[in-house]
Amino acid sequence: MIHPKQLRTYFSALAKIVFIVLIPLGIAACSQPKKPLHLPKTNLKEAALLPKPLKTVATFSAFALDQFTSIHTPTDGQLDDIAHFLSEKIELKTGLRIPVNAAAEGLAQRIIYINQADSLKALDKEAYQLYINKDSIILNAATSEAAFRGVQTLRQLIPEQSNDTLNQHAIWPVPTGKIVDHPNFAHRGTMLDVARHFFSVKEVKKYIDALAYYKINVLHLHLTDDQGWRIEIKAWPKLTEIGGQTEVGGGKGGFYSQEDYKDLVAYASKHYITIIPEVDMPGHTNAASLSYPILHAGGKAEKPRIRTDMKVGYSSLHTEKDTVYRFIDDVVREISALSPGPYFHIGGDESHVTKKKDYINFVERVATIVEKHGKRMVGWADIAAAGIDSTTVAQFWRSTENAEKSIGKGAKLILSPAKKAYLDMKYDTLSKHGLDWAGLIPVDTAYLWNPETYSGIPKEHILGIEAPLWSETIATLSELEYLAFPRIIGYAELGWSTPENRSWEEYKERLARQTPYLERMGINYYPSPLIQWVQKE
Ligand code: ACM
Repeated sequence: MIHPKQLRTYFSALAKIVFIVLIPLGIAACSQPKKPLHLPKTNLKEAALLPKPLKTVATFSAFALDQFTSIHTPTDGQLDDIAHFLSEKIELKTGLRIPVNAAAEGLAQRIIYINQADSLKALDKEAYQLYINKDSIILNAATSEAAFRGVQTLRQLIPEQSNDTLNQHAIWPVPTGKIVDHPNFAHRGTMLDVARHFFSVKEVKKYIDALAYYKINVLHLHLTDDQGWRIEIKAWPKLTEIGGQTEVGGGKGGFYSQEDYKDLVAYASKHYITIIPEVDMPGHTNAASLSYPILHAGGKAEKPRIRTDMKVGYSSLHTEKDTVYRFIDDVVREISALSPGPYFHIGGDESHVTKKKDYINFVERVATIVEKHGKRMVGWADIAAAGIDSTTVAQFWRSTENAEKSIGKGAKLILSPAKKAYLDMKYDTLSKHGLDWAGLIPVDTAYLWNPETYSGIPKEHILGIEAPLWSETIATLSELEYLAFPRIIGYAELGWSTPENRSWEEYKERLARQTPYLERMGINYYPSPLIQWVQKE
């Protein structure tokens, strides 16, 4: 007797064959365009993919993306969302409206199939394979996250222009072959300082669109600093009523309501990007103490006042008052409740007016609060002075000694070396924005370092890299983009691609070919003279 479960499996396989193979073939048979398609020779290995995939094999033909293409995927849940995301992006790029799971109604001749492949999970949770054949594209992915990364690769393979000269049948030829890919580092991030200058939800969403395109998966938001407090805390409303109204240079500041923040987190999640919220303490807290003077340390810390300058290291929370820890508990609790990600960043940098013993006590007490609210503590590696442990993540920015001390105590490391990875450093002496305290960082310097070996710390201690963008010198989205692009694209590759797959000479050719995307998206970028920018593909 056939077991009902076997029967179900049998019918489901049969349905798949009918759905994916027979229906489209039937439809294809009665809807062949009259003229043969003129497919160009292609070379998948020469595609301007960024970051560069692990392995690429070219088969020199083309998949003709056109109006007779459709997307198929399991209809339950996240893969379906990803299929619709792909369809939306194809429409934005080509104008084609590619249906999802609608073969029976459409005229599908070619299929893009997004398929869950559990077997890839053993390799990496972001592992995917892309098989591009003449009549089908098969994206196999371990998880929905992996499928999303694979979709970015596919988006990058679709040409900007159609091949429409001969038969009035516009096709966008996608080079055929096979891509096998997964990231070198799990953590590929960037930090955005929304405290020195505020950036709206809409602006950050536009930035997220581009980060996702280059497979960045972490956006660390520096939410508070001396010049402004940018997130609503319901238990402490003056933080935004007073602390949210100022910024560097005297502008009007701004803040995210909790609804705004949730919206941003949800948008990031849809793009498989984790937001790490940072509330910097005990230093960098002038805006908090201005809002609630009871929090202020006194002693060497400067009296709170509206700060629109760019000085650092003069403020501190009081480290002995219970009120201060009640405040921190409320802040961590409210923000953690809005944050699906595993991390809470406590800052901890440049607390120059906090006595060392007070700093140590403070960080250790705050660590227990973060843990109580179910999050893993991240801090700038200055926190190595305190009793941190293997649950902690330290962010290396300046001192190798602090990074070594952190891993000596069992912490994991995120690499953000200022001399290489600070997006707010000027490109060169002509840069319109940026600082230069860590040096100038032209586009080649930003790319030419190796996260595996840079700090001398073995790779097993390193979660990945993050490129911070401090915002003292940038007040608009266009200025933000000027400092971020194109360097952020190089950091995306440093996080994703293996050292064997990275070469400046070859990278700069692929980078030069990002202009159609950047321009179509309206992204401002620094046209570095080191790159021979391509205007049209
Ligand atoms: C930092 O740049 N103060 C972490």
